[in-house]
Amino acid sequence: MFENVFFIKSVYNLKEIPRSAQPEVILCGRSNVGKSSFLNSLFNRKSLAKISSSPGKTRSINFYDVDETFYVVDLPGYGYAKTSKSEREKWGKLVSGYILEGKHIALALHFIDSRHKPTQLDVVLNEMLKTNSIPYFFVLTKTDKLKQSEFSQSAKKLSEVFSEAKVNENIVLYSTTKGRGQKEIKRIFRNMFY
Ligand code: GTP
Ligand code: MG
Repeated sequence: MFENVFFIKSVYNLKEIPRSAQPEVILCGRSNVGKSSFLNSLFNRKSLAKISSSPGKTRSINFYDVDETFYVVDLPGYGYAKTSKSEREKWGKLVSGYILEGKHIALALHFIDSRHKPTQLDVVLNEMLKTNSIPYFFVLTKTDKLKQSEFSQSAKKLSEVFSEAKVNENIVLYSTTKGRGQKEIKRIFRNMFY
């Protein structure tokens, strides 16, 4: 389980979305929060998803097949200021079009940096998920940068913006360096797809 993971395709246009009816798990959230790194760490593959030290790296919607059972879909992040306005608008349309119209999205993982409070763009994303009735978990990333004592503070910041966010229910604390959260994510996938 979770061993046969391979890249399917990069999509720059909604028409190119794979036609297969496999369920999709989407990785969404701001630029630089760690969506692509999550993919590599979860499946223990150094360069399955491309990552750069400068944010704004993922520019296409990238489909990965897991065990020919479901897709993990890595989305470009939003809110990266250094990107040109026209490019931001283009990605924004691509991502929101896919989230609002995707027929096979079974689950969204909404990534938020555990050190920061969710932003207005996170609220917009959350509303899109709700509009298309997509179930979701919040993934608080880079928890290796927090002290254990700061975990509850981080979850509190999240629930101040999203009142439905609850520890042990729909919040996953994640770290690529410490392997934190991997078991939980795999349990979620196993329960959904196997
Ligand atoms: P976009 O593709 O722009 O949307 O960004 P992204 O969300 O895919 O972020 P990406 O995975 O490219 O990671 C951004 C930076 O954060 C990289 O330098 C990663 O090494 C770093 N990073 C990601 N996850 C972690 C983590 O758990 N801990 C630490 N310390 N750094 C992380
Ligand atoms: Mg990325």
